[in-house]
Amino acid sequence: MVILRGLIAHTPKNPFHEAEALQAFSDGGLAFQEGRILALGSFAEVRARFPDASVQDCREGVLLPGLVDTHVHYPQTRVIGAMGYTLLDWLQKRTLPLEARLSDNKLARELAREFVQLLLRNGTTTALVFGSHFQGATANLFGAAEDVGLRIIAGQVCSDRLLLPALHTTPERSYTEQKMLIQRFHRRGKLRYAVTPRFSLSASEGLLEVCQTLLQEHPDLHFTTHLNENLEEIRTVAELFPWSEHYLQTYDRFGLVGERSVFAHNVHPTEAELLRLAEARAAVAHCPSSNAFIGSGLFPMRQHLSHGVRFALGSDVGGGTGFSLIKEGLMAYLTQRHAPDGVRLTPTHLLYLATLAGAEALGLEGEIGSLAPGKAADVIWVRPEPGSTLEVHFRHLDSAEDLLGSLFTLHGEARVQKVWLDGQEAALS
Ligand code: GUN
Ligand code: ZN
Repeated sequence: MVILRGLIAHTPKNPFHEAEALQAFSDGGLAFQEGRILALGSFAEVRARFPDASVQDCREGVLLPGLVDTHVHYPQTRVIGAMGYTLLDWLQKRTLPLEARLSDNKLARELAREFVQLLLRNGTTTALVFGSHFQGATANLFGAAEDVGLRIIAGQVCSDRLLLPALHTTPERSYTEQKMLIQRFHRRGKLRYAVTPRFSLSASEGLLEVCQTLLQEHPDLHFTTHLNENLEEIRTVAELFPWSEHYLQTYDRFGLVGERSVFAHNVHPTEAELLRLAEARAAVAHCPSSNAFIGSGLFPMRQHLSHGVRFALGSDVGGGTGFSLIKEGLMAYLTQRHAPDGVRLTPTHLLYLATLAGAEALGLEGEIGSLAPGKAADVIWVRPEPGSTLEVHFRHLDSAEDLLGSLFTLHGEARVQKVWLDGQEAALS
């Protein structure tokens, strides 16, 4: 049994709905055994309950729940930083040519190892991942995550029209290839499978029907895709599906909008779409740095809140600006300050959006997202770089919420020192 000692902060409640959602212990103790959290409280209390446990001193910096990324693309690590594009030309010119190279299994394996390491180094312990268009490369992703003990939900991405023909499949082929991946990886340890059409712009009705069939045959699968990211994309989707009243309906017609569905972006929703998302209890991945970087627009957070649509943070690497969900928290804050009807977010909201909200979006709130006893011991220790502004703040601020405010704001000076996955310390390379 292990006790981690230090400043511990987490959000066991939703701060958008409840007061005092932040729980923090300035000299806290977190005990875990066999991968599960046993106790959380003041160090003195936890120590008294478990006098034989070994203690790890993490008193510099802060202990947090592992972060949850609800939208990230495995093949796109090396696309980060491609400036000056909007969505469709960014895909065409920079992103999809690189994704086509994942037909090479050797490259795919290298990218998969790199990808899972980068998630861990940034404190992400659970992620909903867009896989590759290729079956082999997607298998490599699952393998790499399993090797390091990372919890991922992922799937083989499918497209069968427009964009880049080298990435096209057929409905029949996609069904067969996905079926094999589902049988091999879904529910193997911490791995889960998500049916993942890239977006309805690049998916025929036949391909969306295959997605529906897979979900009917395996009702516990997840579903993820893109929605309402960019105005030109939305116009094209409306032309491709002349019967649709709105973008969401192109998925809804095929039974793809439900409690296990996560839609990335939703920057430009209509009222009808927000109502339907809320009714279906579907979730949205909010990717603030990507929305700014690709110039997609400002996320209408207030409308999501007022309609009761659930949302959590996603890094959207490589449209986003990196793997750090702490940075995404700051970006959410900054972009909401900038939005005409923006929400005034607090550090507690940001922590919730990077942890428990993600767990809820993925239906994993019983397992991860906070440090409540009984949950998996997915924990990160974040420390300020020596000599940094953040270190000065950690020395001189005393409220946990102020410290979190500094951490999000000065995220570039924070280092993820250690990561525990199911109570096991992960090797960070
Ligand atoms: N829409 C379709 N594909 C993509 C992608 O790779 N990234 C983003 N941000 N949007 C998309
Ligand atoms: Zn994306």
